[in-house]
Amino acid sequence: MRILEAKELSVETNGKLVVNKVSLHVDTGEIILLFGPNGSGKTSFTMALLGHPNYKIVGGKIYFYGNDITAYSLEERISLGLTAAFQFAPELKGIKLGELAREIAERHCVSEDTLNELAKILQIGYLLDRYVNVGFSGGERKRVEIFLTALQSPKFVVFDEPDSGVDRDSVVLISKAIEKMFELGLKGALIITHTGFLTKYLEASRAYVMINRRIVCEGPAEIIKDHIIKYGFNMCVMKRSR
Ligand SMILES: Nc1ncnc2c1ncn2[C@@H]1O[C@H](COP(=O)(O)OP(=O)(O)OP(=O)(O)O)[C@@H](O)[C@H]1O
Ligand SMILES: [Mg+2]
Repeated sequence: MRILEAKELSVETNGKLVVNKVSLHVDTGEIILLFGPNGSGKTSFTMALLGHPNYKIVGGKIYFYGNDITAYSLEERISLGLTAAFQFAPELKGIKLGELAREIAERHCVSEDTLNELAKILQIGYLLDRYVNVGFSGGERKRVEIFLTALQSPKFVVFDEPDSGVDRDSVVLISKAIEKMFELGLKGALIITHTGFLTKYLEASRAYVMINRRIVCEGPAEIIKDHIIKYGFNMCVMKRSR
C-alpha cells in the first residue's frame, strides 16, 4: 500500500523555486533514502511535505494513504501521523526535556514504559533534567530529536540527516530507535542522508538522488549508495544528460 506520494511537487520559499517537480513515493514497510548535495532542496522538500507555511507549493500534489493532502495545514498533517525529525532542532530555554517528552507522550497516548524504553535505547536518560538542546552536543541533539519524534507515535517520518555529525555508536542507537518506531506503529520512512551510513544497520529498499532541486535518479538503495561513495553524484548527472 502506498503511504506517501509526492507527484511533480514544486515549492517556492521567499519567491525562489527550491523544489522542482519532485516525484517520489513510499510504500508500507519501506525505508527510502534521499541523497543529494548541500543546497539541493532536500530540507525544503521536507518542509513542504509537512506543510510549513514558509514553503509554498506552487505545483504538484501530495497524497497520504491515497488522500490529497496538498492543501492541508501543518497541524492537520501531523494529526494524520505525518511528521519529521529535523536536521536542526531549536533550543528551548526554560523547557526541560523530560517535561516536554512526557507532554508529547501523553498527547499521543504513548505509555511511560515506552518513553523510558526509547530513552534507554537512545541513551539520553541523563539529559531529561536539562533544557531541551541547550548546550547539547551534536550527537545528543540528534538522539533527542529522534526521541521526541518517536513519542509522537507517527505513521510516517522524514528523518532529515539523522546520521550527519554523529559518531558510529550514535548511528547504531538511532538505527535501533527507528526499528523500535516500526514496532510501535511507524509504517514507512524517508531518510535524508549524505552517506547512507544507516543502511549498515537498517534495511532501505530504494533511494532517490536530488540535485539542483530535481530528482535525477532512483534505484535500489545499496546500488545508489555504492555509486555515490565511489563516484560522487556524477553518475546521476550523466544519466540525466543522456
Ligand atoms: N527560507 C528560505 N529562504 C531563502 N532561501 C532558502 C530558504 N530555505 C531554503 N532556501 C534555499 O534553498 C536551497 C535549498 O536548501 P535546502 O535546505 O532545502 O537544501 P538541502 O538539500 O537540505 O541541503 P543540506 O544538505 O545542506 O541540508 C538553498 O540554496 C537554500 O539557501
Ligand atoms: Mg538539509
